[in-house]
Amino acid sequence: MLSGNSPPTVHSSVKMESLKECDQAPISDIESVCQCGAIKDSPRLSEVKHASPEDAKSSDLPDGQQKIDINVPPTLNQIRSSDFLNDSATTHDGSPEIIGNGNVGSTERSSPGAEEDEKVASEKLKKKTTFSDEVPENVKATLRLSPSMSSNINNYDACENSFPRVNGNPMMEEAWERLNKSYVYYKGKPVGTLAAMDPSAETLNYNQVFVRDFVPTGLACLMKSPMESDIVKNFLVKTLHLQGWEKRIDNFTLGEGVMPASFRVRFDAAQGKESLLADFGGSAIGRVAPVDSGFWWIILLRAYTKCTRDHTLSSEPIVQRGIKLILNLCLSDGFDTFPTLLCADGCSMIDRRMGIYGYPIEIQALFYFALRCAQQMLDAEKGKEFIERIDRRIEALSFHIREYFWLDHTQLNIIYRYKTEEYSHTAVNKFNVIPESIPEWVFDFMPLRGGYFIGNVSPARMDFRWFLVGNCIAILSSLATHSQATAIMDLIDERWEDLIGEMPLKITYPALEGHHWRIVTGFDPKNTTWSYHNGGSWPVLLWLLTAACIKTGRPQMAKRAIELVEKRLSKDGWPEYYDGKSGRYIGKQARKYQTWSISGYLIAKMMIENPANISMISLEEDKKIAKPRLSRSSSF
Ligand code: GLC
Repeated sequence: MLSGNSPPTVHSSVKMESLKECDQAPISDIESVCQCGAIKDSPRLSEVKHASPEDAKSSDLPDGQQKIDINVPPTLNQIRSSDFLNDSATTHDGSPEIIGNGNVGSTERSSPGAEEDEKVASEKLKKKTTFSDEVPENVKATLRLSPSMSSNINNYDACENSFPRVNGNPMMEEAWERLNKSYVYYKGKPVGTLAAMDPSAETLNYNQVFVRDFVPTGLACLMKSPMESDIVKNFLVKTLHLQGWEKRIDNFTLGEGVMPASFRVRFDAAQGKESLLADFGGSAIGRVAPVDSGFWWIILLRAYTKCTRDHTLSSEPIVQRGIKLILNLCLSDGFDTFPTLLCADGCSMIDRRMGIYGYPIEIQALFYFALRCAQQMLDAEKGKEFIERIDRRIEALSFHIREYFWLDHTQLNIIYRYKTEEYSHTAVNKFNVIPESIPEWVFDFMPLRGGYFIGNVSPARMDFRWFLVGNCIAILSSLATHSQATAIMDLIDERWEDLIGEMPLKITYPALEGHHWRIVTGFDPKNTTWSYHNGGSWPVLLWLLTAACIKTGRPQMAKRAIELVEKRLSKDGWPEYYDGKSGRYIGKQARKYQTWSISGYLIAKMMIENPANISMISLEEDKKIAKPRLSRSSSF
């Protein structure tokens, strides 16, 4: 099967006593954050490095080597390095200014109708399209790390092999220490955590605070006793501020509600000032905006509110506005015939081309989760109309996903026998899926007991691959019905070797290989077969599995997975991901001391120790939503 969307045949209670009242965000504090001057984004030197085809040739995977016949034009890196230097020279004077090289700019949002400003800005933008390799002194100053960042790196060695055995769990002790050392400070306050602190690897953009990566850290801080809610609140407020920027890529302005993928603190040594720099996808490899960031932000805000019982933050007008802006991007009318969200490839945790364009389950499940969190947090009076829009979407979305994304043995058999070319509303095969497009592996993979939400559904295209994040989020948000949640856990149990293997957990299954890998990933040397996003194993996902296990009453399954992680993760230096069919090898390009591998482990442990902790990241079934009328499943 040659289609790019189908994978290959594979052969082979919150601790109540620990809750404390959170220090409230004075309104002035939040406002001052939102009024500070323009801050610019710039393409970063680090982000333009492309993995060389050579890297891919040295595959250490059991499946052997990938042949890659692409050439990265040598001039690309040089040109972009110069871009970075030019951009960095731009000083922060508080006025909205477009910076960059004609590619990227993120600035404070200008007032509506400020066309004159726009003209001036675009003139400036044109002027900045020349590149120079010379680095003026003032530029060098701006390239230095902020004091907060450098202290992280300096502290790195100090924590090596020096973990006291507290509470009989040295691994947790080590994890907490490492987590603390990854904190990023802005104006003296913790605002997030570095993605990784690997002194031996090139930083690329791993020295930034990623929104999605911070979620497990935020949850760890909320679960901790005593709770450390300040960092979570600061993170939520700062990222909200960043949302307020005008986001531009090549003179095209992104939607107002878009949240950054990541941000960092820049220290201007000359002025002795810190400022924030955000990336909305304008610097990211592939230039894709992170659709998941806004959803995670809403989900974390709800967790914070639930856990601290501090409703003042979520009810601030500016926070209410932020929630609406995020969801407005998704609720606006258009040409859609589906209630699911149409997305570009690489718009979520899998932030490279992996054939997840269309309607990826991860985004749909996060969308549903965020809608339901917003329903709880929006002001019932002032947000009435908006809440009604949310209610309608939740109903349509849950029906669509429960119906059309669900696959189990019975449903697979139905699709296998589909007729095609059916016209009109009586069609059974509504999306005209051609049964021959079902990949062979799925017939073996599908157990008699169990089922899952497949990766993607759109006209004539069903991506049958398993994606862990989408399925676990569907359980936690109760997008999955009770019976579907049970069936998903049954499937994980039945396919333990494939989905958990030696190191939890497979991000997706199976891996793309050969021709499919070439077509679907575009010869991506980082996403080779059973590596990274293409069937690699990600320890961070342990927390999602654990939460799903607890919610469905199967803590033993989570404990089994945690035991596997405990055998190696710390010894291996907390890698970002593992490679190989059963996850036996530390990932080819995996960063060590990856923060969310650390925090993911911590929250998995804290949820097992106190299952009530999952209430901050789980929603009960919405009784108002009608159950699917048609029962297609053998599992329910
Ligand atoms: C990689 C991952 C992405 C993560 C980032 C920082 O790009 O694909 O999901 O957010 O690293 O850890």
